[in-house]
Amino acid sequence: MITIPTRFETERLIIRAPQPGDSVSTHASVEESFPELHEWMPWARQRQTLAETETYARESALRYRNREELAMLLFRKSDGVHVGNSGLHSIAWDVPRMEIGYWIRTSLSGQGYMTEAVTGICAFAFSILGVLRLEIRCDARNRRSAAVAERVGFTLESRMRWQSRDPQGGLRDTLVYVLFSDDQPETVQRAAKHLNASAP
Ligand SMILES: CC(C)(COP(=O)(O)OP(=O)(O)OC[C@H]1O[C@@H](n2cnc3c(N)ncnc32)[C@H](O)[C@@H]1OP(=O)(O)O)[C@@H](O)C(=O)NCCC(=O)NCCS
Repeated sequence: MITIPTRFETERLIIRAPQPGDSVSTHASVEESFPELHEWMPWARQRQTLAETETYARESALRYRNREELAMLLFRKSDGVHVGNSGLHSIAWDVPRMEIGYWIRTSLSGQGYMTEAVTGICAFAFSILGVLRLEIRCDARNRRSAAVAERVGFTLESRMRWQSRDPQGGLRDTLVYVLFSDDQPETVQRAAKHLNASAP
């Protein structure tokens, strides 16, 4: 089995696996971003307590170690501020295929941080994990999320009608965006050369 690095870089960000104690730096951004998260993320039905944010950090650190799901935290290099979360989930190692999810701290949106992070995570997935197929799935009404996928270079593969429920219980159509290892955008290939990935 390959060793999966727990930390790598993009131009402005440090991207790393969760670890115990992360609630100290991440809880404020979850709190600040609650209105946007509540609109789109199934796990954000209600506000999280500090203890729940810490439980998430500990459980996702364990899942990372067990290769069940590779959640990742994004920090700004210049000042260490928590920018948001992303990562690789719905993993099928036999293909290998994975899905990228993400959310950004509301006060830091509109600066291209998530596009940069997702570009770096694609490079990490293709060049280090040997992934063949990456997906981004989003609510068909979530224009900002689809825009991230499109900016990185994903193409729309399908629209699944009434595929799930949104956090408010309404029916949602889901868009499936895809990117393949044999058709990587130039930006992803460039990011792969500067990951500076390090193991645990
Ligand atoms: C989806 C989400 C992460 C998008 O965040 P975002 O800030 O729009 O995305 P980015 O950080 O990539 O920033 C892109 C914006 O910065 C601008 N930008 C500035 N500098 C940029 C740069 N160097 N590179 C790319 N874009 C840049 C882009 O033009 C774009 O602006 P626009 O929205 O006015 O067109 C955010 O809306 C979110 O967290 N939503 C709630 C959770 C959610 O829906 N998650 C997805 C579930 S599938």
